[in-house]
Amino acid sequence: MVTGASRGIGRAIAVACAEAGADIALAARSTDALHDAEQEVRKLGRQTVLTCGDLADSGTAVRLVDEAAAGLGGLDILIHNASVFPADDTGTSYLVPFAESGSAEWDPLLAVNIGATVDLCRAAHPYLAASPKAAVVLVSSVAGLIATPAMEAYAVTKAAQLSLMRSLSVGWARQGIRVNALCPGWVRTDMTSPMQQHAPLSDWLMSHVPQGRWLTPTEVAAAALFLAAPAASSVTGHALVCDGGVSVPDGGLAGIPKPASPFAA
Ligand SMILES: NC(=O)c1ccc[n+]([C@@H]2O[C@H](COP(=O)([O-])OP(=O)(O)OC[C@H]3O[C@@H](n4cnc5c(N)ncnc54)[C@H](OP(=O)(O)O)[C@@H]3O)[C@@H](O)[C@H]2O)c1
Repeated sequence: MVTGASRGIGRAIAVACAEAGADIALAARSTDALHDAEQEVRKLGRQTVLTCGDLADSGTAVRLVDEAAAGLGGLDILIHNASVFPADDTGTSYLVPFAESGSAEWDPLLAVNIGATVDLCRAAHPYLAASPKAAVVLVSSVAGLIATPAMEAYAVTKAAQLSLMRSLSVGWARQGIRVNALCPGWVRTDMTSPMQQHAPLSDWLMSHVPQGRWLTPTEVAAAALFLAAPAASSVTGHALVCDGGVSVPDGGLAGIPKPASPFAA
């Protein structure tokens, strides 16, 4: 099961898993976008189940998991990728200094990024416990590992996912369920579209990426596939960072010229 499978990183993960031979339950809010993703997966010869709902609503996570397991005849792997970033009414992401942030920024992120993560993991547990090759991959973020001014609400929820991942990895280890997380850096998706399009901000962000470029959903999906696959059979409790070097200590300082920070007072 892949949540947030309609676009961006989640869609690339669904395609990577299908290429590796998985039948997939694809979850998101938008049915139309999910149908597009479904076509892509079916072209690879895999079975699909579509399951739609808003993870901000209580009860949705349990329904989505049950529908996925019923449609697939069980559940081996949960890749929980859907998350939200502070966004305006048009869905456009924005950064906001902590002191100016409020419930509009925090509440939806706490509900979806933390609340639904908890609910999905709990709902998936009985299915995963019955599988001989069970794995959970939580798509967190490098923001959960490092300081990210003006993104505090997002970073807090991503750090919470890492905390849950570590506890579940130990708690569920003897049940044969591996639990890991992925920590991408800046990836070219709808979530980061406003940052990509604002040239001074994009230049500043990329100046802190040793690889000096936006990552693609496909290269991040390859890392998620590794964590989900039997190739990672000894890996549990791990946060796999795929960030172009952002989080390497001092990696961003190695002779790369820096524009002035947009956050300078
Ligand atoms: N892009 C980056 O630079 C970056 C960096 C680090 C980590 N990440 C993480 O990677 C994951 C995917 O990010 P992305 O950039 O691919 O995001 P995205 O382009 O915004 O796509 C988000 C996906 O989640 C679904 N979704 C959003 N809100 C939902 C809700 N309330 N209920 C159910 N589904 C929902 C969306 O479909 P619908 O709108 O149809 O529901 C879509 O399929 C997230 O966990 C994000 O935090 C991203």
